[in-house]
Parts: sequence; structure tokens; C-alpha cells
Amino acid sequence: MAKPHKIYNCLNCGASSGKWAGQCPECQEWNTIEEAAVGNFAIPTSGGGSGYAGVIAEIKHMAEVEVDSVKRMSTGLKEFDRVLGGGLVPGSVVLVGGDPGVGKSTALLQVCCNFRQVKALYVTGEESLPQIVMRARRLGLPEKNVLLMTETLVESICAAAIKEKPQVMVIDSIQTMQLAEISAAPGSVSQVRETAAYLTRFAKSTGIAIFLVGHVTKSGGLAGPRVLEHIIDVVCYFEGGNDSRFRIMRAIKNRYGAVNELGVFAMTEVGLKEVSNPSAIFLSRLPEAMSGSAVMVIWEGSRPLLVEVQALVYTSYAENPRRLSVGMDTNRLTMILAVLHRHGNIASYSKDVFVNVVGGVKVMETGADLALALAIVSSINDKPLPDDMVIFGEIGLAGEIRPVSNGQERLREAFKHGFKRAIVPQANVPKNGIPGMRIDGVSKLGESLDIVG
Ligand code: TYD
Ligand code: MG
Repeated sequence: MAKPHKIYNCLNCGASSGKWAGQCPECQEWNTIEEAAVGNFAIPTSGGGSGYAGVIAEIKHMAEVEVDSVKRMSTGLKEFDRVLGGGLVPGSVVLVGGDPGVGKSTALLQVCCNFRQVKALYVTGEESLPQIVMRARRLGLPEKNVLLMTETLVESICAAAIKEKPQVMVIDSIQTMQLAEISAAPGSVSQVRETAAYLTRFAKSTGIAIFLVGHVTKSGGLAGPRVLEHIIDVVCYFEGGNDSRFRIMRAIKNRYGAVNELGVFAMTEVGLKEVSNPSAIFLSRLPEAMSGSAVMVIWEGSRPLLVEVQALVYTSYAENPRRLSVGMDTNRLTMILAVLHRHGNIASYSKDVFVNVVGGVKVMETGADLALALAIVSSINDKPLPDDMVIFGEIGLAGEIRPVSNGQERLREAFKHGFKRAIVPQANVPKNGIPGMRIDGVSKLGESLDIVG
């Protein structure tokens, strides 16, 4: 008989390989590789074979499967419901990740209290009960139907939950929790992974919806394993710089709705408030136009958002000029600098380039390329762009300007906020224009440089 070959899996990133190693070659984590159980199974080639002991899984026709229409629970914060895909689904597990201090505990405490008709259990491993109650009273939150518990042992939490039968449970945070049967320290990869898996099974078997709070590490990932994301239904991140009062919630995975739907909140003295019309909150609107600044319209989920990007380009005295970007991808920045050089004859190889998106917003969209390029050019020439101008469009390596989705809606939103000029991809220019707005369509980078030059 052939010797069964062994397979090893990394507990952190899930990579598999044929041999064991102390460090995962994929994610570079140490001591995360474990042997996986692999059998040596015979594959049946004809019906009625032996070896399955008569156990046959049932196959159903798609049309026969009945679905109970899911009744979603509203979190009382429309922006939060929006990120969840229209409310919280019973029995679902939602991971809320974010930097310490961004407002995860505040948001979930508000949600627990908002439910009113729904019994909620808030479990904390980080704060004391008086601390939480003081916060709730200060924020004037309704206290009816909210249960509190300080505990870090997941088995005890679940036992208590079975007795009290809440419909929603908050675990703050997954890094403080532990399963008694696992010896690893709380917060370690295996402890986080196993407690999350245990709580997920618990949610599925009881129908209790669970929010897991997760702190992010310095490198930006959730502390603990990426494998967490596979077992959890909804993964959302809470973003926003400490210097800005605005907070953005973004789903990166959602089994019950669209991802990249943004929720926008403001952190105030009385807790988190939703911002239901956020399109212009990230504009700084200085009294005079400044060089290096450009306003773009990005599309987030189903809404336009006006965002200001700033660039500072200056002679470098370092051997390797610096390229630093906050809120935008540095690789994208490098690419745009190359295209500007090759197709616009604008060189920056001897200059430091700093880029910042105002308000702590993270822009992932390639439709931001053109605004970034023109902000850079504006800084190099020390010539401000008109302060009533918006810009969007994707830049290709050949210097071509590619259209973006929802061009017309973006332009309308900008016009609503007082912008009278726009530089956009040729294909995004509305056929009938927008009365009162001057829209310049461009298909090459050079054309846009001529306009602002
Ligand atoms: P918190 O919810 O404790 O953050 P996390 O759980 O993500 O670590 O939020 C803490 C921050 O929020 C803290 O810096 C103070 C601020 N905050 C307000 O500005 N207003 C408020 O009403 C509350 C409750 C907190
Ligand atoms: Mg907290």
C-alpha cells in the first residue's frame, strides 16, 4: 500500500506545503505550521460501490430548497445597518476591527442599547462594569434589555448566554478571550482562531448574533490570523485618524450584502453620531486655493464622496528620494510618477513626494489617479488648481485616461456642493452636460496637463 503523504498547513495564512518548517514561507509567521490530516481514499468509479457504509449525503434540486426570509435586526444606526447589508442577521458573526481608541466599544455599546426590543448581552474582557455603565449614562442610552458581563472564559460566557438567551451578544474583544482547553495565551494566533471558531459554532447553533471586537496590529491586519476571515460572516473595519472626528466603517467581507458600502459616523462628546449625507465632510475648504491640493469625487458603495488629496513635492537631499503616502496606495503613487515622467515630461526622480488624503479617508479606487497626478503637478509648478474644480479618472500606463463608473452622479454631487469646473475622462462627459458646470473631457494625460498648465 502506498504510504499516505503528509500535508502541512499554516494556521495563520492557510498556505499548505509538503514539508514542515519553523517559519511559514508565505506569511513569515513562526511556529504556525501544523500537520493536516490527509487520508488515502479510494475514489469510486461506478455506482453502488462499497466503502461509504451506506451514508449518502442528500442532493437537492436548487428549485426545491426553501429559504426562510431572513428577518434582519436594525442596529438603530442606519449607517451601521448599511454596512451590514440592511441590518443584523440572526445567528451571524460580525467582526468589527479597528485601531485602539477608534470607537469600537462605544459603537457596540450604543448598538446594544439601541435594540430595545431585542435582548442584548455585552461581554467585556477589557473594562469594568461601572466604566461601561458610566459611559452609557453619560451618553443617555436606554438601559432596558441590556445585560452586562465581565468574563474572558468563552465556555462560561456561552453557558451564561444559554441561560439568559440574548438575541445579540458582543464580545469585546476577541484578543482578551480564551478557551480553557487551549493553553496558549489570550491574543495568540491559536487562541484567537479557536475562540472565534467556537463562538461561530455557538452562534450558528443557537441563532444568537455575535459581534466580535478585534484590535488591529501595527501592520494594519487584525491581530491574529487571516484564517479568522474565512469563518466569520461579516468582517468590517472601523477607520479614522485620531485627529479627525469622522469615523468610517467599511465591510471587506459580507455574506449577507455588498462589500465596500461605507458607513460614516462622527465621534462627538455624546458618542457616535451617524452622518447620513457625508459627501462633502472631507473637504477642508480653505479661504484661498493652495498649490498641491486637488478635490476628487470617489465612489464608495452606492454613494459619491468628495475628497481632497494633497501632494508636496520638493527637492530631495536624500540618496533615495522619499515617496510617502497616507490614505493612498504607495505603489499606485509610484506608477503615477512614472507615467507623469514618461507621458507628461514631468520628472520627480530627484524629489521627495508626500501625499495625504484629508480627513483620514483611505482611498482604494483607481478613479483617484488623475486628481493625484494633477495635485502633484500643481505642487511641482507651485500653481494652485482652481478652487471650484473637481477631478476624477483612472490613468493607464500608456498615459490614457480611462472612464470610471457612475461619472454622471459624481459630477452632479460635485455641482451640488458648488463645484463649477471638472476634468474627467472623455467617456464620462454627460451627453447633455450639466447646466452651469464646465466639464472638460480628456482621453490622454497630456490633455489634462494642458488644461491646468
Ligand atoms: P472606544 O469605544 O473606547 O474605542 P475602542 O473600543 O475602539 O478602543 O472609544 C474611545 C475613544 O472615543 C476615546 O478616545 C474617547 C472617545 N469618545 C468620545 O470622543 N466621545 C464619547 O462620547 C465616547 C464614549 C468616547
Ligand atoms: Mg474598546
